Amino acid sequence: MTAPTPDAASGFDTRQIHAGASPDRSHGSRIPPIHLTAGYVFDSHQQAHERFTGDDTGYSYSRLGNPTVGVVEQRLADLEGGTDAILLASGAAATNVALLALLGAGDHFLSSRALYQGTANLFTENFARFGIEVEFVDHPSDPDDWARRIRPTTRLLFAEPIPNPTNDLIDLELVAGVAHHHGLPFVVDNTLATPYLLRPLEWGADVVIHSASKFLTGQGAALSGVVVSGESFDWAAVPALFPHLNSPSAALHGKSFTQVHGRRAFSAYARDVVSARTGATVSPFNAFLLRQGLETLSLRMRQHSRNALAVAQWLDDRSEVLSVDHPGLASNAFHALARKYLPAGQGSVFTFTVAGGEAGAAAIIGALQVFSHMTHIGDVRSLVLHPSSTTHWLLDDAERTRLGIHAGTIRVSVGTEDARDLLDDLQQAFDSVALTELGIVQWQSFPTTDAASSVASAQFAEVSAP
Ligand SMILES: Cc1ncc(COP(=O)(O)O)c(C=O)c1O
Repeated sequence: MTAPTPDAASGFDTRQIHAGASPDRSHGSRIPPIHLTAGYVFDSHQQAHERFTGDDTGYSYSRLGNPTVGVVEQRLADLEGGTDAILLASGAAATNVALLALLGAGDHFLSSRALYQGTANLFTENFARFGIEVEFVDHPSDPDDWARRIRPTTRLLFAEPIPNPTNDLIDLELVAGVAHHHGLPFVVDNTLATPYLLRPLEWGADVVIHSASKFLTGQGAALSGVVVSGESFDWAAVPALFPHLNSPSAALHGKSFTQVHGRRAFSAYARDVVSARTGATVSPFNAFLLRQGLETLSLRMRQHSRNALAVAQWLDDRSEVLSVDHPGLASNAFHALARKYLPAGQGSVFTFTVAGGEAGAAAIIGALQVFSHMTHIGDVRSLVLHPSSTTHWLLDDAERTRLGIHAGTIRVSVGTEDARDLLDDLQQAFDSVALTELGIVQWQSFPTTDAASSVASAQFAEVSAP
């Protein structure tokens, strides 16, 4: 049997199934097997030496490379339109590896403020201890707000195209333009869009990160992350910014990464120097689950996006809902950017804010039955969370408000169930929790559709306004 290797002209639905994989030659297994091994046997003294010098590119140790992982790396590079992908243990590992391949003590970088909170904490706390300074940009749609903050020590610009959780979309071409005008690379976290909805390399980004634990795997069972890069950025053109890529390296017998790897210098350094030494390695078992998940990515993202828009529209019509941050709604401030960058769908993670503050949000979350109450996104199951008391609880009120997270804000990650069942679940939850104006919340212990018994069994509580 010959491997149906897709060419570049093949569609996304085809490439997500076939790219990077060929049938196993030893036993004919159609599904790429799980090579769960720490190391690999060398055939000879000479081969062992050459595996270390790089003259023989075969495998030596699974922290440095693994065939199960390699298939997924090729597939993700293909789907993102890049040339290299490094698969890692988690999205957090991917962010660390990508940025530590570019930043060192004394360096400064810019980031949009609306970020996954774990990434924000990494930047402000961990990186600060290494002498790396992040500066947040307040108005990422204003090119001058990025440009005026660039210093001689600035090394890169960072953003999430669809920020988790509030959907303040980034204009990728605009930010890439500022970055490249100043000779800097643009790094993005594309977790919430996935390459099915958005391929940032096509809009000027140079490095793309994902938490593959979310939509890419899709089934909420395994963590992984990936760093994808193309050949857009000329690392050799800015030796003063990235001396570690441009000066002689012991790892390359005295040559530099740009001399040996050209425009792939970043990726080679991230893999061989950062990932290999920090041990951020993914398990081949998780890589296998990720590859299985990737094969249905486009089908899931279509359904996620359709369902999420239906849920957003339903919420937008409720008087108890103060706002819905979904860029697919025509009234949303980021709708024009969504039409430009996300025409195939806007993903499934968004927030809405209910009247009644924290008690109102808690009552709605507690009444939902199909939505699971948990801190995760991108699962085929619909999920729900109250950010201000969980992911963002450490921030002060002013910072939460700046990020669009209020006491009554609820984050949803809409799954791939039947949209009708999700709307019915929301309906019964809202029916069971009567929210009145000005933060007075009234709820029942047991949801019921009978108005008379509803009044009889109701419990009342007063809470302060948001
Ligand atoms: C946008 C984004 N990036 C990175 C991460 C971190 O990914 P992981 O949990 O796989 O480490 C998350 C996790 O929620 C995320 O939402």
